[in-house]
Amino acid sequence: MSSALVLAHTSLVAVDRWHSLVQAAYVIAGVLFILSLAGLSKQESARRGNLAGKAGMVIALVATVALALLESENAIAVTGSLILGALLIGAVIGTIAARRIEMTQMPEMIAILHSFVGIAAVLVGFNSYITEPKDDAVHLIEVFLGIFIGAITFTGSVIAYLKLSAKMKSKPLTIPGRNLWNLGAVAACAGLMVWFLASPNIWALLAMTVVSLVIGLHLVAAIGGGDMPVVVSMLNSYSGWAAAAAGFMLSNNLLIITGALVGASGAILSYIMCKAMNRRFISVILGGFGDAPAAAGEEVTGEHREISVDELAQSLAEAKSVIITPGYGMAVAKAQYPVAELASKLRARGVKVRFGVHPVAGRLPGHMNVLLAEAKVPYDIVEEMDEINDDFSETDVVLVIGANDTVNPAALEDPNSPIAGMPVLEVWNATQVVVFKRSMAVGYAGVQNPLFFKDNTQMLFGDAKTRVEELVHAVDSALVG
Ligand code: TAP
Repeated sequence: MSSALVLAHTSLVAVDRWHSLVQAAYVIAGVLFILSLAGLSKQESARRGNLAGKAGMVIALVATVALALLESENAIAVTGSLILGALLIGAVIGTIAARRIEMTQMPEMIAILHSFVGIAAVLVGFNSYITEPKDDAVHLIEVFLGIFIGAITFTGSVIAYLKLSAKMKSKPLTIPGRNLWNLGAVAACAGLMVWFLASPNIWALLAMTVVSLVIGLHLVAAIGGGDMPVVVSMLNSYSGWAAAAAGFMLSNNLLIITGALVGASGAILSYIMCKAMNRRFISVILGGFGDAPAAAGEEVTGEHREISVDELAQSLAEAKSVIITPGYGMAVAKAQYPVAELASKLRARGVKVRFGVHPVAGRLPGHMNVLLAEAKVPYDIVEEMDEINDDFSETDVVLVIGANDTVNPAALEDPNSPIAGMPVLEVWNATQVVVFKRSMAVGYAGVQNPLFFKDNTQMLFGDAKTRVEELVHAVDSALVG
């Protein structure tokens, strides 16, 4: 064998080894992603899950860059510099955005990130169509479906971002016969797919892209504010399927695994959210919920009573059991730290203190759990709505801190209420309920809250953080006195 042939053979073997290494790294990253999901499902193991996810992503990124360099048709330096440039630009934008975004703006950040996955799947699809041979029907189906899901995810996520960031009204767009329009659009895409498979031309692909972009736009525009939590997790699921479709087009196993994990976990989360809000998934998708004007349902009238910080401190000093139900207002006020301090002070005095967390309290799944964990509230006193709902009747004082819709009795008592049927924390069954908020204003769903006018409810107006800080001091003197 000539020395040139030996050299070529050796370098082929080396390339093969690198390919095997990359595939091994992909398997490790895939396992770490699964461990990450398992860890994130419980508060105690969430930190570990997060670490596993980050480690998996670093391995995946390094392996993918190595693969791109191995398969590059250009000089390695050119491909390497292009990747490095893109990574640097993305890292700078991502770091600035992540530092600027408040915790309460997380859903809109997630929505816009989903839109990137969607547009990436569309671009990968067109690139794959242009560069790959067009005689493989399976590949053509992958391209078509990848672009279809990606385009819906893209416009759907952009509209979700605009609605969640209040740049667009959250009222549902209800054009007459909207479900028929959606159905017609999907049927048109199916027809375009038949045409595309019969003669793989760019016009069928372009026409389907435009129709899919409109479907995504209309689908989310038709969903009202009340259903936005489900929409966020639904788009999370779509973005996963879009990534999986891109994985098929690029023959990248890790992208397929990761996409499927995100797609499936997003779908499960959407189901859990629907259950928490007593909504049928299909009705959420079809939209129109939240159509009723803000004041729909029974007129809520009555007089509210107020309580002073000192009076409440005295009640807490005498209480045997206290439940705190946090909501979006606690997040806005960043009141979790004084709330945690209050809980620990009361516990030190022998009061049984627990937290009752509604599944859609705040603005993103697990929002309250994250804040309470951040303030080092012990996990074992944080209970889910289903675990704690029967215990309110044996509770002396409930502190509703910045929660509104999630403690609204109209959900159970008024069948005409826009949130009718949504399970809520039944705080009014306690002996005394104190609501911390700044005014009598409505919550996210725009529905009046009869809780504020019940005989055993008192309002403590003001910024939740300031009021709870005052309460922490007042509790000291009330208990001593
Ligand atoms: P909301 O119903 O949104 O009510 C929050 C309350 O906090 C408001 O009534 C507001 O009253 C008060 N507030 C705001 N800033 C405050 C401050 N600095 N200090 C004290 N109070 C303050 O809260 P919730 O009970 O948590 O319900 C969540 C709602 O968001 C549900 O309708 C849910 O469907 C929706 N949603 C949830 C998610 C997820 S996934 N969790 C995502 C999107 C939407 P004042 O203005 O009078 O102070």
